[in-house]
Amino acid sequence: MKKPYLFVISEMTLDGKLTLRRGVSSKIIMNYMSKESNIFLHKERASSDAIMVGCNTIKIDNSNLTVRYVKGRSPIRIIPCSFADIPLNSNVLDKSAPTIIVTSKKAPAKNIDAIRRKGVEVMVCGEDKVDFKLLMENLYAIGIKKLMVEGGPTILWNILKDQLVDEIKIIHLPILIGGRDAPSLVEGEGIKDLSDIFFAKLKGVRVLGKDLLTEYKIIYKKSTRQSLV
Ligand SMILES: NC(=O)c1ccc[n+]([C@@H]2O[C@H](COP(=O)([O-])OP(=O)(O)OC[C@H]3O[C@@H](n4cnc5c(N)ncnc54)[C@H](OP(=O)(O)O)[C@@H]3O)[C@@H](O)[C@H]2O)c1
Repeated sequence: MKKPYLFVISEMTLDGKLTLRRGVSSKIIMNYMSKESNIFLHKERASSDAIMVGCNTIKIDNSNLTVRYVKGRSPIRIIPCSFADIPLNSNVLDKSAPTIIVTSKKAPAKNIDAIRRKGVEVMVCGEDKVDFKLLMENLYAIGIKKLMVEGGPTILWNILKDQLVDEIKIIHLPILIGGRDAPSLVEGEGIKDLSDIFFAKLKGVRVLGKDLLTEYKIIYKKSTRQSLV
């Protein structure tokens, strides 16, 4: 399968949380990122052909996904949104960088038309939900060879499950927030069997100001089936 090199970057608290509570913007914990981490994040954006973030993150965070902390070109913004119900005042629909809203055949035509009227491209990719394997083939075909994914946890589960993730980079912030309802890196339905575990091999460790960066290669291998319960 021809697909872009796909790497994930997430900022995470010391207790493994992506945001304060479910439904709350991660921009609050991102305020605790060191300048060095922000520069790293934006260099990674500038070195990527495209950046992908789930539709719910756009609805909650209203992310820009542009390059600001360093000089460089902003990548193409890819937003999977199965029903094309992205708020029309979202920052990613502005003119600061190109955007592709990826949707499914279930998306109402009026939603698609409203996005196109703003001059933003819509790619239909999948029957009921966005089909990520097909999306990767389509992105490769239009010249996207390096894709950065900045979450959230639902999208991360889906691309992991489809074995599309090559690398994960975590910026560990030295803060703890607790809360059983605070989202962690990967959500979705989770593995059903121990043979489904995704393994990661440590590639590198770096200090970014007061934060720690860890980089992992993802390894897909099947072991003997062993029930979780
Ligand atoms: N700390 C960090 O690094 C970081 C980074 C990003 C986000 N976050 C946080 O994560 C939270 C949002 O995460 P989230 O998990 O709710 O949302 P998400 O992963 O950003 O987006 C999930 C949405 O993607 C859409 N989608 C498209 N195709 C899909 C498919 N095949 N399968 C499943 N969903 C598909 C679904 O909406 P449709 O049904 O409409 O398609 C789904 O609701 C926010 O609080 C945000 O602040 C933190």
